[in-house]
Amino acid sequence: MKLWGGRFKESENKLMEDFNSSLNFDKRLYKEDINGSIAHVKMLSKCGILKEEEEKLIIDGLNSILQDIEKGELFIEGNYEDIHSFVEINLIKRIGEVGKKLHTGRSRNDQVAVDMRMYAKARAFEVLKELEELMNTIKDVGEKNNVIMPGYTHLQRAQVVTFKYHMMAYYNMFNRDKKRLLSDIEIMDESPLGCGALAGTTYDIDRDFTSKELGFKKPVDNFMDGVSDRDYLIDLMSAFSIIMMHLSRLSEEIILWCSKEFDFIEISDEFSTGSSIMPQKKNPDAAELIRGKTGRVYGDLMGILTTMKGIPLAYNKDMQEDKEGFFDASDTVMKCLKVMNGMLSGIKVKENNMYRAVKEGFLNATEAADYLVNKGMSFRDAHGVIGSIVLYCEENNVAIEELDVETLKKFSKLFDEDIYDFIDYNKTLTRGIKKYINN
Ligand code: ARG
Repeated sequence: MKLWGGRFKESENKLMEDFNSSLNFDKRLYKEDINGSIAHVKMLSKCGILKEEEEKLIIDGLNSILQDIEKGELFIEGNYEDIHSFVEINLIKRIGEVGKKLHTGRSRNDQVAVDMRMYAKARAFEVLKELEELMNTIKDVGEKNNVIMPGYTHLQRAQVVTFKYHMMAYYNMFNRDKKRLLSDIEIMDESPLGCGALAGTTYDIDRDFTSKELGFKKPVDNFMDGVSDRDYLIDLMSAFSIIMMHLSRLSEEIILWCSKEFDFIEISDEFSTGSSIMPQKKNPDAAELIRGKTGRVYGDLMGILTTMKGIPLAYNKDMQEDKEGFFDASDTVMKCLKVMNGMLSGIKVKENNMYRAVKEGFLNATEAADYLVNKGMSFRDAHGVIGSIVLYCEENNVAIEELDVETLKKFSKLFDEDIYDFIDYNKTLTRGIKKYINN
């Protein structure tokens, strides 16, 4: 069933019909499509283009379609070109001739544009909410485990940090993701309804009215841009990709930390899996899947960027390809945020193992060099002296603080009893990040 056909002599090839149809995936937009139509009809009536009785019949018809879909009594399936055709044809089936007036002063181009904007905006808010929940969990887990751990550069033990401070680095990343999403929402918050196919309509319609009715800040300025702009999807998918990149980095750390090589944390059984052959295995599949799914969200972004790059103004059917990628990217990011949240809230932090790693890693070597600088040595010379001490310690299997002052004095006369206090791990932390610990 089609919304067009008057100018055709032959019917469409079945292959073409299947190829062209988007119902299979754009059925997700049914609510936005019906709400968009209701706003359009209210506006037509307000502007005197439809009679009030017609408005009422159409709106009641649209609402009954919405209810039946939600009750599971009307299935979105069949030989329809897309969700817009499905709703309009079903409306005409239900209310007869007056249903044919729904599409007055409107094109499917501005219709799909407004549907997709509403859908994308709602999804962006859902992602925002999920992000906020993850941020709360990160803060919580950090606060409950404010313990010393090694900080790394080049994946080599570098200086002392705390687990909380390490977690708060991710909190800050996700906080920027939140700001990115909010700014994307702000930019996209314009209604394309009323742009028509590309050049508006001859009816004296009120775009401010429909824009307000559908919760947008204002109508778009340019009709041709309004029907063919998909930047907002690219913006959102790029924000989703950055969220995935952050989730993937965190996943990678979780995977490392729960390996026997690190043994810093344990993931709860709820978020782990086993091996079909190796009975001892407990695998961090949740974190690995999040890391893996990052690639597919990047792929969705690349897909829409590539689809859009050669399209002349205004609407072209290529743009129908914007949907599956966006649906997939938003579903994936939502799922990954939820799983990361669940997995993180159940992790057990192994404080003693983290402390041991700090001790074995000479994580107070930089502070030991600073000690010599405070006593008058240049930093470069101090660096050399401590380097030789570390070598000596490695050969003798001891930590710097385990050497007595006599031994230390062999490396530099400047060492005294106060060195031990200066390079105490808790104190080095105080002088370094502890003042900023809430960040
Ligand atoms: N299914 C189409 C899409 O998603 C709806 C718009 C169709 N417009 C048209 N001129 N054929 O883009």
